[in-house]
Amino acid sequence: MNCCVTGLQWGDEGKGKVVDILAEKSDIVVRYGGGANAGHTVVIGDSKFALHLLPSGAVRPGVVCVIANGVVIDPQCLLSEIDELAKRNVKLDGRLLISENAHLVLDYHKLEDQLREESLGKDKIGTTIRGIGPCYADKIGRSYAVRVADLFDPAGLKAKLEQIVLYKNRFFAAMYNAAPINADEIFDKCRKYAERLLPFAVDTTEMLHKAISDKKSILFEGAQGSLLDLDHGTFPFVTSSNASSLGMSAGCGVPARMVDKFIGVAKAYTTRVGAGPFPAEQDNPIGQYIRDRGHEYGTTTGRPRRCGWFDAVAASYSIKIGSIDTVAMMHLDTLTGLKEIKVCKAYEIDGKETGFFPSNGQRLSKAKCIYETFEGWDDQISDVKNFNDLPENARNYVIKLEELLDRPITMIGVGAKRSQTLLR
Ligand code: GDP
Ligand code: IMO
Ligand code: MG
Repeated sequence: MNCCVTGLQWGDEGKGKVVDILAEKSDIVVRYGGGANAGHTVVIGDSKFALHLLPSGAVRPGVVCVIANGVVIDPQCLLSEIDELAKRNVKLDGRLLISENAHLVLDYHKLEDQLREESLGKDKIGTTIRGIGPCYADKIGRSYAVRVADLFDPAGLKAKLEQIVLYKNRFFAAMYNAAPINADEIFDKCRKYAERLLPFAVDTTEMLHKAISDKKSILFEGAQGSLLDLDHGTFPFVTSSNASSLGMSAGCGVPARMVDKFIGVAKAYTTRVGAGPFPAEQDNPIGQYIRDRGHEYGTTTGRPRRCGWFDAVAASYSIKIGSIDTVAMMHLDTLTGLKEIKVCKAYEIDGKETGFFPSNGQRLSKAKCIYETFEGWDDQISDVKNFNDLPENARNYVIKLEELLDRPITMIGVGAKRSQTLLR
């Protein structure tokens, strides 16, 4: 069976945990989009892993890990992730494959990300400064892009980098008065990356189609969240890739019809890092309560996450565009102790009620949430093993969300650990 896991909110929904659980029954886990802006956490007993570029299947021995064409790879970050895992006795030899067509995030992409964000001041996007936007922009622009395959041809790469650096230096100096970057230094680094990364580089599309013919079980691991999708999210406060499950096919060359099940991951409330509209945000003691209990600080940047109530309008939109079959709902335990829990079930925009999420930022920023209120629960639920043993109000909350989303909630997170997940 082939499954695709994507986030239904603005990222950090708990995809890493869900992928880790599903990877137990998968042969292959594929990252198909985004880059080191992602931070996917897997907690096994007392061990915590934060993965940025490697698929979360990496921590399951024997699972083949694929980084497909749609990912933008920061080689420095990937190599330190591989080394970090090796130190913890997680070996990837023979089970990591990287697409030759994936694009490389180089130092000047991260510099450009930083210079642009600094220059925008209060209008900044609040990116992770991982060079994601500049690298995807070079990919779309084509002429100044560097791919894994370029590492195979040192002479060609050298000439290309010289051309790129000429352009970037003029641009950085004119726009940001920045110091020049040096093509030779970048080339030398690339030579080192090549030595270590080329053994992993293959045609991942061919490999995945062979795996499909061989009836292997493939798990596609989305990064970011549907509301951060470049085309369908809250533009311009989005990432630079198709982070909804719509990006899966283009990101790895496997058509959506070959996926048996699309699983959407959401938190039992909503969080967002970075700028942009967030109708159900609670910038008040309730948001702080959720942040404290849920440890809502970024896995990649450490920034405090903005917190708010569950937004069924937003999640339903992600379900529609993502052809989501079932929902995994994480962090139910974080809501313990709240007297009342609210869910946004419609928006009021310019005096009119709507149940359809407007991805147009101008309209979305006018949206006022229409809430339904539920009674909370006080019992700690992190040791609960069965849905029926949850407090009645917690069960009612899940059932109500199923009704609002019109999809079954088949996994429920009651704690960060792999074992703290209820299956229904
Ligand atoms: P991802 O980017 O979607 O993989 O999510 P992150 O790893 O960035 O953020 C999710 C955070 O919530 C991580 O710290 C997880 O360990 C944690 N987490 C996941 N599921 C649960 C849950 O059900 N309860 C609690 N308390 N923490 C969870
Ligand atoms: P995972 O996979 C949460 C957000 C950034 C910023 C916007 C653009 O862990 O869920 P970028 O660096 O991509 O240009 O930043 O997108 N963002 C994420 N937020 N989780 C993520 O990944 C994110 N990846 C990017 O905070 O608002
Ligand atoms: Mg994350």
